[in-house]
Amino acid sequence: MKVIVISLNLCNLINTSILYIMGNKQTSLTEKGTEAEDLCRMNAFGPDRPSNNLPSKNHTSEMEPKSSGADEFDDFGPDFDECFPLLFQALVDFDLILPLKETKSYCDDKSQDIRLRKKRLYQFMGSVKQNLLPRINDEIEALLPEWKSLRKIDEEHVCVHTLGVVYCVMQDPEFRKLNRREQNILKWSALLHDIRKQGPPVFEGKDHMHPFKGAMSVLEIFLRFKTFQIQSEDQLEALANVKKYMDLSKQPVPTSWSKHFKKGVKYCTEMHSHKYLSDVFSNLEKIVPRSSFTHLVFRLVLFHQSLCGCDDYPNMINLEPHERISYCQDTDGAFYKLMRVLMYNDAHSYIFVMDEHGNREVFRRQIFGHVEEYCMESL
Ligand SMILES: [Fe+2]
Repeated sequence: MKVIVISLNLCNLINTSILYIMGNKQTSLTEKGTEAEDLCRMNAFGPDRPSNNLPSKNHTSEMEPKSSGADEFDDFGPDFDECFPLLFQALVDFDLILPLKETKSYCDDKSQDIRLRKKRLYQFMGSVKQNLLPRINDEIEALLPEWKSLRKIDEEHVCVHTLGVVYCVMQDPEFRKLNRREQNILKWSALLHDIRKQGPPVFEGKDHMHPFKGAMSVLEIFLRFKTFQIQSEDQLEALANVKKYMDLSKQPVPTSWSKHFKKGVKYCTEMHSHKYLSDVFSNLEKIVPRSSFTHLVFRLVLFHQSLCGCDDYPNMINLEPHERISYCQDTDGAFYKLMRVLMYNDAHSYIFVMDEHGNREVFRRQIFGHVEEYCMESL
């Protein structure tokens, strides 16, 4: 029997899978299943915490009122609150741990000098780094080693932003109307939406590839957690194809954009296209059913910068109407219902402490308005 090197990420898993498919026809699926199990064991959980022990049922909390319908689903996914009890508690105690109320009231007071108000805002962000991140970093990294890499980007600013998005999502009145499965999906999506985002010191400015890279990480993470499993040769091939078509989606940023680059500054020079989406999704749906937990988190991360959001901050590339109809419309409307809350709070997280230009309502009206129009689209 061939010795198969156990890999620690999806890329290597796919390479291993291809090796299996191409050159090891004698290997049984049982042996291949063992590889996947070894992969899961050797990843975030370690031998004492097998991935199939991940909490998958929700518990009640004071912060999140019970909604009807939660138990109707058998595809709840790993329970966010039980996976991250310290993070969950920190989000409940957010304004006890952090000087949120004082900072907001100071920053909203326009009689104060703008420089002083901005200084207080930066102090608040420093407080998130000093008082909040140390409480939860180890817990998140134990399940998501990707978080460790994210902490190295922009002096933890992406992590501060991410926690702001999760907090704002959970405070949103629309979040409270969702059933518990939808809330769980939204919390995971908020935590993971920028998980592969790059920035200083890698490069300056915007990262146009991170939604696609992040969506691949969603598959890596939930495969590791055994939220879904690869159970056949066809599924192994489909997984390799998802990765292949996601990689092929890279393209250079347009010259109209790159001509604004300053000399001597390193920028993100690639962006995704949408031209392989039908290949990505036809393969993905051989592995995870449409509208399942993983399918929804994958789409929310993948498309969080592919739909019109705030008019003053346009995306590099948006989905075309026929693409939105194919990939965003669900029979129960779940994707758009969750996406509008994610997109709004992605933007809102930058202004929830200090909203100098009164954009809270503007952003909400624009984002919810665009999504409402998308919901009405038909061929
Ligand atoms: Fe974000």
